[in-house]
Amino acid sequence: MGLYISVSDAVYITTPIYYVNDVPHIGHSYTTIIADVLARYYRLMGRKVFFLTGTDEHGQKIEKAAEAKGLSPQELVDGVVLRYQSMWLDLNISYDRFIRTTDSDHVSVVQAVFKQLYDKGHIYLGEYEGLYCHHCEAYYTDTQASEKCCPDCERELTVLKEEAFFFRLSTFSSDVKSYILSHDDFVLPISRRNEILSYIDSGLTDLCISRTTIRWGIEVPDLGIQLSKKHYIYVWFDALLNYLSGIQFQQESSSFERFWPPTIQLIGKDILKFHALIWPAMLFAMGLSLPKHVFGHGFIYQGGEKMSKSKGNVLSPSVIVEKYSVDAFRYFLTREMVLGHDGTYTDENMLQRYNSDLANDYGNLLNRTLTMMGKYFDFQIGFFTQSDLEDSERVLEREAKILVGNVEICMSEFKLSVALETIFCVIRQANKYIEQCAPWALHKNNQLSKLMAVMVQILETLRIVSLCLSPYMPSAVEQVFAQLNIHEDLVNPRPDLFEWGYFKPGMALGRPEPIFPRK
Ligand code: MSP
Repeated sequence: MGLYISVSDAVYITTPIYYVNDVPHIGHSYTTIIADVLARYYRLMGRKVFFLTGTDEHGQKIEKAAEAKGLSPQELVDGVVLRYQSMWLDLNISYDRFIRTTDSDHVSVVQAVFKQLYDKGHIYLGEYEGLYCHHCEAYYTDTQASEKCCPDCERELTVLKEEAFFFRLSTFSSDVKSYILSHDDFVLPISRRNEILSYIDSGLTDLCISRTTIRWGIEVPDLGIQLSKKHYIYVWFDALLNYLSGIQFQQESSSFERFWPPTIQLIGKDILKFHALIWPAMLFAMGLSLPKHVFGHGFIYQGGEKMSKSKGNVLSPSVIVEKYSVDAFRYFLTREMVLGHDGTYTDENMLQRYNSDLANDYGNLLNRTLTMMGKYFDFQIGFFTQSDLEDSERVLEREAKILVGNVEICMSEFKLSVALETIFCVIRQANKYIEQCAPWALHKNNQLSKLMAVMVQILETLRIVSLCLSPYMPSAVEQVFAQLNIHEDLVNPRPDLFEWGYFKPGMALGRPEPIFPRK
C-alpha cells in the first residue's frame, strides 16, 4: 500500500457535523480526536491545514425535541452547540472553523447549490411515496425494511406521500462507481470500498431531497415555479454541503480556492452511504473534484454494545478525562483502537495503558533522565564529544533518526496506532539504553565526558519522541518541553526541529515533575 497523503501544500480535514439532539459522547470525540491528531501532525510538518468540524442542526428530530422541552428549535440548538464547543475546548481540538448548519453563509450556499442543480436539470419536481423513518429522517425501500421496521434504528416506519424534489442519484451513481473503481484509495479502508460498491450494484433510484412535513430546515429557494406547499431541503442534502460552505464556497478569494478538495473526510461506518455515494454524486453534478480520501472508521463499543442514549450506556469523555487527563484519553483512543476497526472501551484497558505506557515508559524516562542530569550536572548540558561513544552506544541516535520517517509513513496511511507503537518502541529502547549504559557507574568512575554524551543521547531521543507525540498529546508534550527547557512553535516549526543535535553545551534544563503520576 502506497502513501495516501502525498506531498502537497494544503491539507483539508473534515469530521462529520454532529446532531444536536444528543450530547457529545466518546464516539463523537473519537472521530474528532483522530481529525485533530492529523491536523496537528500536518501543521507540525509545515503544511497549511484547514480543519473543519461543526453541528448538524436542522430536521424533524430537533423540532420535536424542542417542542417537548417548550423551547424554540433555535433555543434548543444554541444550548447543545455550546456543549459541543466546550467539549472540543476541553479535548484540545484545534479546529479552524466550527460550522453550524444554521449559519447564514451555510444557508446561502445550500440554497444556491439547490438552485444551480435545479437549473441544470439535476434536480426535478416529482412525487414521493415511501416508508419513512422519522428518527433517521430517511426513506427505505421494501427490501431494506423488512416488517416495516427501520433497518438502522429498528423503529416503526410510516408510509409517507408528498410532492417532492429529487436529485438524479441514479444518473450519477455510475460516475461514482467508475471513480471508486479507478481510485482504490478513495474509499478507505478496503472493506468499506467493497461495501459501497455492492450497495451501488444493488440498484439505485433518485434521491428525494425535499420535505413538506418539516418546518425546521432550509427552505427550497425560489425556482420560478408554482408549488402547492412550502418545501424544506432534506437534512442530509443540507448537511453534506457544510464541507463546501465551511471553506467559503463561491466567495471571492476564499479558503475554498486554497483547500478544495478535502484531503481526508473522516466518518463513522454508519454514514458511509451518504459520504461515499450521495456526496460524490452531488459533487459530480456540481462539476467539482472529489475528496482524496473518505475514511469510514469503526465504532467504539462499551461492554460489547453500541452506545446509545436509550440503553443508558453512553460514556462521557469528561468522566474519563477527569480521572486520567485529556492527553491520556486522546492517547488511549488513538493507541487502542485500530482505525477502521471496531474497538471497546474498558476502564481496565485504560488504566493498563496509562500505567504501563504513559507513567512507566514515557513519564519515567523523562523523570529519571532529568533527575540524573540534576544529580550529575546540576541541570546543565556540559562538554562532550561523539568519540566518547562506541558505535553500539549511539543506537538511540540511529533509531530516533529513522523514527521521524517511519511516523510519516504511518500517518500518511492513517495508521495512527501503528505510529504510536513505533514511537513507544523507541521510548522503551531508551529506557533499556539507560540500564545498559549505567550512567551511575560512569559517574562513579568519573567518566564525565562520556556520561554527558550518554545523557545527551537520551535527551535528544526524548525530544524527538515528544515531537512525534505532540499531535496526540499536545498539552503533555508542552509540559515535557517546558521541563526540557525547549520553547518552540509547533504550529510553524523550524524545519530543523526534527534533526538530531539540538542540545548544546551551555544549555540549561528545567526541573523534573511527574507528567503522568501512577494510578
Ligand atoms: N449529522 C450526521 C452527520 C452529517 S455529516 C454531513 C450524523 N451525526 S451523528 O452525531 O449521529 O454522528 C456523527 C459521527 O459520530 C458519525 O461519524 C458516527 O459514526 C460517529 N459515532 C457515533 N457513535 C459512535 C461510536 N460509538 N463510535 C464511533 N463513532 C460513532 O451522523
